[in-house]
Amino acid sequence: MGKYLTVSLILYFIGQLTLLVFSSIVESPQKVENWFQGLKAAELKVTKLHFYFHDLREHTSVEVASANITASSPTLFGYSAIMDDSLTEGPEFSSKQVGRVQGLYASASFKEFSLLCAMTLVFTDEKYNGSSLSILGSNPTMHQHREMPIVGGTGVFRMARGIAMLTYIFFDVPGGNATVEYNVIVQHY
Ligand SMILES: *[C@@H]1O[C@H](CO)[C@@H](O)[C@H](O)[C@H]1NC(C)=O
Ligand SMILES: *[C@@H]1O[C@H](CO)[C@@H](O)[C@H](O)[C@H]1NC(C)=O
Repeated sequence: MGKYLTVSLILYFIGQLTLLVFSSIVESPQKVENWFQGLKAAELKVTKLHFYFHDLREHTSVEVASANITASSPTLFGYSAIMDDSLTEGPEFSSKQVGRVQGLYASASFKEFSLLCAMTLVFTDEKYNGSSLSILGSNPTMHQHREMPIVGGTGVFRMARGIAMLTYIFFDVPGGNATVEYNVIVQHY
């Protein structure tokens, strides 16, 4: 009973927040439908984005689940965390924030430390403010270069498809923090 109440309260607040935060960004279904009808004539655009991701493990991500074998597994198999990390224009954490990356990552490989990432790049800057891109894919974090698929988007990135290329700039394993350069190529209308 209590659980359901909590869940409905959370859903209620998400609804309220969505109204407050996105009322000026998200268009009515009718407007989106009109936009969709016009797609045939519209040209596919290509946008390239470049920014940096900062994961300061203690501050921006929390463990939400693990399995009984996680602690003894060399790849921390089953470790699951939720993050809300900063995306910045430059490689320094103090440089201008252009968005957040919010989502889930879980250790999903027995062979190497590789994460399943299900996350949203939520942009807050200039013409991309309020638009988002969704990433779903495998992130073998011990590799210097990685590639993940962009499976969709909202706002200016509606119907997006693309790739995110990740390169380490800084990776401090014991400290658990990292800075990653993102080069994104995305097709959208
Ligand atoms: C982004 O949009 C929100 C909501 O419309 C607004 O409050 C905020 O100031 C905007 N941010 C920037 C950097 O323009
Ligand atoms: C990352 O961790 C190292 C070691 O704990 C620390 O010296 C450094 O300040 C951390 N970086 C940030 C940006 O928090």
